[in-house]
Amino acid sequence: MSLHGATKGTKLEPISDMLAKGEACGTMMYYALARLAKEQGLEDVSEKFIEAANQEAVHAGFYATANAMYPKDFWMLVRGIMAAEYSGETTIKNLADKFRAEGLTEAADEMEIFAKQEGHHGEVMKKILEEHAPETLNDEGKTIYVCGCCGFEYVGDLDAEGEEYICPICGQPKKVFKLKA
Ligand SMILES: [Fe+2]
Ligand SMILES: [Fe+2]
Repeated sequence: MSLHGATKGTKLEPISDMLAKGEACGTMMYYALARLAKEQGLEDVSEKFIEAANQEAVHAGFYATANAMYPKDFWMLVRGIMAAEYSGETTIKNLADKFRAEGLTEAADEMEIFAKQEGHHGEVMKKILEEHAPETLNDEGKTIYVCGCCGFEYVGDLDAEGEEYICPICGQPKKVFKLKA
């Protein structure tokens, strides 16, 4: 039996929601601690934090699945994520320039690596789609909305989504989406 939606619409929904968000925060915190530990030369401590972070990430995904935060038939979602990852490369590169302008040279250098990684994620998503769901890459005649915050692309009728719809990647509300030119 799939875990998908097991707690959605039940009294467990708010619990899964709370746990999903809490675990996602924990992931962020542990990676930050891993970084700080590494800066202090505590490599082994850093690795332990990373191990904990990865487990927290698994937990977050578990509760998110139980609450059906992402569609079970996820190909169209991946199609939208691909677009966000590709546009993320430019976005992060531009933001790295801002860090550089403020004298944060080393941080900016690292962000440029992150930018390339975003582009690579886009490539990976594209390959996955080509191999498993090539039809989702055909945009002909489809209406596409772009998230003004992260570049996620919603393919289809966004108006059919409820007012509570938020960008699956960055969590911005429906109103930040614009029709793709
Ligand atoms: Fe990414
Ligand atoms: Fe977004």
